[in-house]
Amino acid sequence: MTTNIAIDGPAGAGKSTIAKRLAAELSFIYVDTGAMYRAMALYLIRQGIPAEDTAKIEEACQSADITISYENGEQQVLLNGENVTGFLRSEEVGNMASASAPHRKVREKLTALQKKLASEEDVVMDGRDIGSQVLPEAEVKIYLTASVKTRALRRYHQLEEKGLDPSLEEIEKDIKKRDDQDKNREISPLIQAEDAVLVDSSEMTIDQVVQRILDIYKKRENGLR
Ligand code: DC
Repeated sequence: MTTNIAIDGPAGAGKSTIAKRLAAELSFIYVDTGAMYRAMALYLIRQGIPAEDTAKIEEACQSADITISYENGEQQVLLNGENVTGFLRSEEVGNMASASAPHRKVREKLTALQKKLASEEDVVMDGRDIGSQVLPEAEVKIYLTASVKTRALRRYHQLEEKGLDPSLEEIEKDIKKRDDQDKNREISPLIQAEDAVLVDSSEMTIDQVVQRILDIYKKRENGLR
């Protein structure tokens, strides 16, 4: 039996930073499911397939082989054997991931991979539907969020640090659009699972969030013994 921690929440809530830290603390594997949707999106972009073309996307699901591996503890995503990890973080790929993720075939394909990983290893897995759909039996479920303003500011500082000159207004608009798409889609929308613990990180440091989740995990572990 493996132990699974599910972390869901909107874009920019800090899920990956927190999940990575938790995984390191607990010696679990960190699984970034967004990166899998991004790899699928990259494939669609490269093939020139628009997010609205369901038939072509279903076909693409058959020809895109997505797998993950780990290098020095860092998740790598392979698309038909090519390591595409370095191509996944652009806004273009993120927007395409959000637009293509609602397709049933895309979700079936990627959730099967996610479930398999979680059945083989202790994982901290982050995404949108992990607690609600992918790992409904996860030992710990967290819904991690933060205000739109806080998330936009975090993204703004990240881009500034990269030497870019971002527009806070544009970032806020993008975040709202992404939230809307992720929350209102028909299949596996972003929702807080009934038994997930809500953690609002707007006024919390990374350390505080990690500690909060570790406490929840330990309490749950003690309760199970
Ligand atoms: O977390 P992220 O920004 O890397 O995710 C990119 C997009 O992928 C996100 O807008 C919605 C989609 N996604 C999803 O539908 N389900 C997941 N479990 C993870 C991501």
